Amino acid sequence: MNIAVFVSGNGTNLQAIIDAISRGEINAKVSLVVCNNEAAYALTRAKKAGIETFVKSHKGFKTRADYDREITKELKKRNIELVVLAGFMRLLSPNFVKKYRNKIINIHPSLLPAFKGTHAIKDAFESGEKTTGVTVHFVDEELDHGPIILQEKVNIEKNDTLETLEEKIHKVEHKLYPKAIKLFVRRQSDNVNED
Ligand code: GAR
Repeated sequence: MNIAVFVSGNGTNLQAIIDAISRGEINAKVSLVVCNNEAAYALTRAKKAGIETFVKSHKGFKTRADYDREITKELKKRNIELVVLAGFMRLLSPNFVKKYRNKIINIHPSLLPAFKGTHAIKDAFESGEKTTGVTVHFVDEELDHGPIILQEKVNIEKNDTLETLEEKIHKVEHKLYPKAIKLFVRRQSDNVNED
């Protein structure tokens, strides 16, 4: 199965996916990394792994749909069957979501529906809650929303700082995302075999 991973920043989740594939844990190929930020370290990771990249800033596009259409062309060229959002800090247009419905997944650093948005770890840390976590879900038209695939709790201990909590969350993410992708790929190939 051809996968595209969408990134905007550091790309530690991209790395975890690349590593899980190279260990033979997921029967798929990252055929494209899509990035809206030329300075993202994720691009260095992609290049090191020999993965093609499509880098384009969304600035200069009139509408979200125009930008997403450019991306769709690239996905079609490579016959992409799963879009994996890994720290892609942009909402996708309704048209794109419709085209790839049930084929776009996202990871978010909280137990959704709690703490949506870009500062989920900090928001949970400052809330006084004793638990937060990680969610992998299918993407719909709303931000950080859609059917949940996997969730894992992370305790917020009294002696945690924002940094230690971030570390714990990222560690869980790097296990949970490859696991969710593996489930998706398996289910897809089961469906094909049943046909
Ligand atoms: C991850 O913590 C991911 O859960 C979060 O961005 C980070 C990207 O890190 N995504 C969101 O907050 C989506 N709303 P990475 O670039 O090192 O993979």
